[in-house]
Amino acid sequence: MRSMLLAPAIALALWAVTAQANTDEAIAERIKPVGQVCIAGQTCEGIEAVAVAAGGATRSADDIIAKHCTACHSSGLMGAPKIGDTAAWKDRADHQGGLDGILAAAINGINAMPPKGTCGDCSDDELRAAIQKMSGL
Ligand code: HEC
Repeated sequence: MRSMLLAPAIALALWAVTAQANTDEAIAERIKPVGQVCIAGQTCEGIEAVAVAAGGATRSADDIIAKHCTACHSSGLMGAPKIGDTAAWKDRADHQGGLDGILAAAINGINAMPPKGTCGDCSDDELRAAIQKMSGL
């Protein structure tokens, strides 16, 4: 009978998921003050977020912006869209595949905008958070 084999398999799978959830929870607990918290059972940005957080490499969007982006984006240097000028960012996003599109441009660099906005060790998620914060999108 199929179900007789299935039951232990399901039990095993559930056990594995539970064990993983406990680990994630433990990690989330440890990194709480500094990183993004991914709670088991809730949707998370992606497993990279946990990996990055577990590595202790997360910085807040504000940290990244202050260190890497304000140099150009606060004054609009060389045509950079200004921080808080949502209309300017939205116009770019609308013409370039939305937030993902301008994120891709930021990662690769575009004209006077250097790749990753000079934050070479920024993850895609960190750059996305910085862009969201600067643009208000
Ligand atoms: C050396 C100056 C400089 C720095 C530093 C910089 N940018 Fe830019 N950025 C620009 C310029 C200039 C543009 C406009 C480029 C163009 O369209 O010609 C731009 C455009 C962008 C865009 C829009 C891309 C598009 O597709 O229109 C994003 C997103 C962006 N920057 C994100 C960032 C982030 C995030 C940081 C910090 C991690 C950052 N930038 C740091 C100069 C800079």
